[in-house]
Amino acid sequence: MHIALLKETRPGERRVALVPESCKKLIQAGYTLSIEKGAGEAAFYPDEEYRKVGCTIENDPETLIKSADLLLKVNSPTLDSENRNEIAWMKPGTVLLASLMPLRHLNVVQLLATHKITSFSTDAIPRTTRAQSMDTLSSMANIVGYKGVLIAASELSKYFPMFMTAAGTVFPAKVFVIGAAVSGLQAIATARRLGANVTATDVRPEVKEQIESLGAKYVGIELKESAVSGGGYAKELSQEDKLRQQELLINHCATVDVVITTALIGGVFAPKLITATMVNKMHPGSLIVDLGAEGGGNCELSKLGETIMTNNGVKIIAPLNLPSTMPSHASLLFSRNLTAFVQTFTKDKKFQLDLNDDIQKGSMITHNGEILNARTKEALQSGRSK
Ligand code: NAI
Repeated sequence: MHIALLKETRPGERRVALVPESCKKLIQAGYTLSIEKGAGEAAFYPDEEYRKVGCTIENDPETLIKSADLLLKVNSPTLDSENRNEIAWMKPGTVLLASLMPLRHLNVVQLLATHKITSFSTDAIPRTTRAQSMDTLSSMANIVGYKGVLIAASELSKYFPMFMTAAGTVFPAKVFVIGAAVSGLQAIATARRLGANVTATDVRPEVKEQIESLGAKYVGIELKESAVSGGGYAKELSQEDKLRQQELLINHCATVDVVITTALIGGVFAPKLITATMVNKMHPGSLIVDLGAEGGGNCELSKLGETIMTNNGVKIIAPLNLPSTMPSHASLLFSRNLTAFVQTFTKDKKFQLDLNDDIQKGSMITHNGEILNARTKEALQSGRSK
């Protein structure tokens, strides 16, 4: 069975879906493997390293895609380039494995179904213990939380830690993290390591203990209605809880130096939690790092992918694709996740489809001309997209 590894085409993308150590494992498992020329270069994995572990290097992406039984990528396939139409080049029945983010790319999903591609999206893999080694969402969210805090520390006009100097003591920066799942908990841990005084909030009650175990203080409201939906993801707050949370945020944001937001609804869309009024009440020199930018942004004033300064001196940074700013480790972890997925379902040197397996069932988006993922189908029916 032949695996093809593509070079990413999303502007600014530096990751690659497989690194040489993973290619070696897959070749040992019985696959043949070709990579697109230069696929790993931006992540500092040169073609030569792939060649050494037994991969062939292909110059022409069309030839490469047509040769694939199993196609591995980081992002959803390219559609809109005159010279490159990845889906049109895939033969029916090709198995595609990537972080498709189907709810943000409904048009791609429809085309994958039309072309009879069997696609798996790693971001739809169930968050179960068995699937942990395949969880690209967690691998990438860890990077987002870590890098988001480093950006905050380098942009803030103050120290993060407390300093006792001959010129007197400076007190630690106050950091407030909104949303405390994988990226938020990593942001809390990183800000604590840098010596900041950290507070955090979430709408899932169980995270209070996790926040406190990292040395941060939990701030939050008692919700009148549960905000937890299937798979541990958060759902939108009721109108009443929303208003109560806004009151908390408006008061608390005004007391801190840095606000780091990581909140997502259903793991996909960012709720607008920081309003213009809240930003107006923050003190000059304070900073918002909107890590919900990929999902549309948690701050009403964020300009996605940009940094802005408000009239009252608050800097708002809304970075996109932070994993790509650490391409070596991001690729290494992504690659290990994909390899774990492929190895789990390899029998007799072949990738085996098993629609009864909970991991395959959860992450399969299209198969045999149909869209199978329930949330994607629902979104298409209601016409919801990013
Ligand atoms: P996410 O990226 O979907 O959401 C980030 C956080 O935003 C969540 O904690 C959510 O509760 C919070 N949020 C949403 N609306 C908010 C609001 N209005 N105010 C404050 N916070 C708000 O989360 P992620 O990292 O994808 O995790 C999703 C779930 O999966 C969690 O329950 C997590 O514990 C679980 N998980 C399980 C794993 C496993 O068992 N293998 C691995 C990783 C995550």
